[in-house]
Amino acid sequence: RIAYVNGAYVRHFEAAVHVEDRGYQFADGVYEVCEVRHGYIVDLGRHLDRLDRSLRELRIGWPMSRAAMMQVIREVLRRNRVKNGLFYLQVTRGVARRDHVFPAGDTPPSIVVTAKRTDATAISRKNAEGISAITVPENRWDRVDIKTIGLLPNVLARQKAKEEGAQEAIFIDAQGIVKEGAATNVWIVDEDGVLRTRPAEHGILRGITRTTLMDVARSLGLKVEERAFSVAEMLAAREVFVTAATSICFPVVSIDGKVIGNGHPGSIAQNIREAFFDVAE
Ligand code: PDD
Repeated sequence: RIAYVNGAYVRHFEAAVHVEDRGYQFADGVYEVCEVRHGYIVDLGRHLDRLDRSLRELRIGWPMSRAAMMQVIREVLRRNRVKNGLFYLQVTRGVARRDHVFPAGDTPPSIVVTAKRTDATAISRKNAEGISAITVPENRWDRVDIKTIGLLPNVLARQKAKEEGAQEAIFIDAQGIVKEGAATNVWIVDEDGVLRTRPAEHGILRGITRTTLMDVARSLGLKVEERAFSVAEMLAAREVFVTAATSICFPVVSIDGKVIGNGHPGSIAQNIREAFFDVAE
């Protein structure tokens, strides 16, 4: 495998950043994960637009032009022969002697791009069987709309899920309202058959898959509302599913040990997943 690190294509097992990289020391950086399907990069434009927003919010510069970045991404995919998989791209504020305040303006941001093939059988199994989730109290900062590499609460939540035999952890705010998964956005199909997902103005990451799936669902004639829902509404929903670039759309069939719907993946989640690639491609 090959990775791109600050201007060079290097062997993956040797790919490294400096010990004084601010990503390493302060999680002072942002990232994107993007799916590749049949050689096509799904929603690349939207991912790069979100990267631009994340960088601007943190006042980190682009490490190269957008066109050059697209070329690097394609080259990493080509060198790793990834036709179905994903790439990971990370930009940090660069290397500087450890100091909380920003380094001098001429410090170049660091960039890393890696790619890997995905395990198609694991994904189909999750789609066919559905996944289980647990709920966890929201304990993150209030700028989770920025896709930063500071993911410790998400890491701890996912680990807790794993230790409890589940695949995702869903953050719940102090009012009992559903926020999002540790690495996914959460949707329900309510009792009226309406697809609901929380507004993305604040408190969650505006998932690219979420945005595209809203178009997909509407193109299928489904009603979609950006309206928050409580844990109780989620547990009583006909269907629950989670979305992310890594999984597109996984049905959730059990939450905190309680069965969702009839305990099997719902038809709406399946339909929109199947329609997704027609719209995204
Ligand atoms: N995570 N919410 C959180 C907290 C996420 O980390 C992600 C994605 C999403 C979904 O966003 P998108 O549809 O743009 O992938 C929502 C990536 C995949 C990750 O950390 O691996």
